[in-house]
Amino acid sequence: MPGTCVIGLQWGDEAKGKIVDLLTGQFDVVVRYSGGANAGHTVVIEGKKYKLSLIPSGALRAGVQSVITGGVVLHPPKILDEIDNLRREGIKLDRNLIISDRAHLVFPWHTEEERVLEQRRSTDSSNGESIGTTMRGIGPCYSDKARRSNAVRLGDLYRPTFPDQVRRIVEEKNVVLTALAGDKGFEPLNAEKIIAEYNQHAERLQPHVADTTSFLLAALESEHRVLFEGAQGALLDVDHGTFPYVTSSNSSGVGIPCGSGVPSCYLKKVIGVVKAYTTRVGGGPFPTEDTGETGEHIRQKGREFGTVTGRPRRCGWFDAVAARYTARLSGVSALAVMLLDVLSELPELRICTAYRIHGKETREFPSHVDDLRHAEPVYETLPGWQTDITSCRRLSDLPPLALDYLNRIQEILARPIEIVSVGPDREQTILG
Ligand code: GDP
Ligand code: IMO
Ligand code: MG
Repeated sequence: MPGTCVIGLQWGDEAKGKIVDLLTGQFDVVVRYSGGANAGHTVVIEGKKYKLSLIPSGALRAGVQSVITGGVVLHPPKILDEIDNLRREGIKLDRNLIISDRAHLVFPWHTEEERVLEQRRSTDSSNGESIGTTMRGIGPCYSDKARRSNAVRLGDLYRPTFPDQVRRIVEEKNVVLTALAGDKGFEPLNAEKIIAEYNQHAERLQPHVADTTSFLLAALESEHRVLFEGAQGALLDVDHGTFPYVTSSNSSGVGIPCGSGVPSCYLKKVIGVVKAYTTRVGGGPFPTEDTGETGEHIRQKGREFGTVTGRPRRCGWFDAVAARYTARLSGVSALAVMLLDVLSELPELRICTAYRIHGKETREFPSHVDDLRHAEPVYETLPGWQTDITSCRRLSDLPPLALDYLNRIQEILARPIEIVSVGPDREQTILG
């Protein structure tokens, strides 16, 4: 405190949403600072399931101020749908949700660009393995942000120049997308329709728009307790992850200051969230992936199907080489180990403690994806516990073999485990 961060240390879906919801009870402000509607966070409270994408998972707690900063790429219809859905569930978001006027907006040309490009990749193998994105326009929107000339931020919606800005962009995008689509064809976008739709979104979003950087700096200066909620996972970080099979933002701990506008001196504690095993959605190397019976068992027992796209998640053993790398990279001070219950029926468990790459053993995570592709995991095998642990609420309730497994993770990652999760519900948690 005052600045605490929750960061996924794998390829996303580590159950960050559950941890953020759990911890938010001790915070005044919860902040989403990167990614967009590619994120899907499931929170279960007393058996009731909430699915969140752009809205911070901490928003489910009454009295908490939710903040979406300029590092997020915002799809206006998506966030408005989410606000409406939450209202139907009895959760009202008015001024208790503020959104940065600096947030870049996702437009139909972004989702169209992604569709056309993924279509080309899937039909032309010379373009390599498909990234398998969530198709939410994330990459194209962040690209336009970096290119600047065709970018539109939330604050631009309220300027008189907005309609002409859209007309100019649509004219250019239609030329580019028609050429990219080739004989697959592309229905040109209609600027006037987009302007009218986004003007309606602008009106509804207006009460939430704010300068979130100033808000957060003032909150931290007044010693308010602020929780930074990571989206995706550190291995999907555009600079430090398994490039190019990554997302387009800095999803590791290094992304917090630039995504939120809060300098690192305020970030006092970083909680690294890991699953007790590993999953990945989409393309790219995954050294500990198990494509056989064990992987399938984990997928079924852990209900490992994407929250956003419904795609089956690829599953495998805990990769301590990757998690040790991302824990160091993200400045993690404590760990939360999630979904431990999913491993309960397995007779033996494996932890990957090193890779063998081109005959050489290493504990360092390779910087080039080709080396990762050749990484053979070196495993340590531990006995499983085969007892239901879903009603354990204290570390001492856990079977000794489960404690041994956790201790080994703690030892290799050289960070204490402070939270263990034994089921999806808020209550199914052990605070160490
Ligand atoms: P996030 O993107 O990191 O927030 O994670 P997701 O919500 O996409 O995926 C995590 C899934 O695991 C969700 O369906 C959660 O409800 C579920 N979950 C969270 N903790 C546990 C746990 O300890 N055990 C089990 N079995 N499921 C859990
Ligand atoms: P949460 O917050 C898991 C993956 C996609 C794809 C790659 C790029 O729920 O943990 P993108 O649409 O971002 O350009 O896709 O990143 N990906 C995620 N995987 N959880 C996520 O978010 C993800 N967000 C993106 O599957 O491989
Ligand atoms: Mg998710």
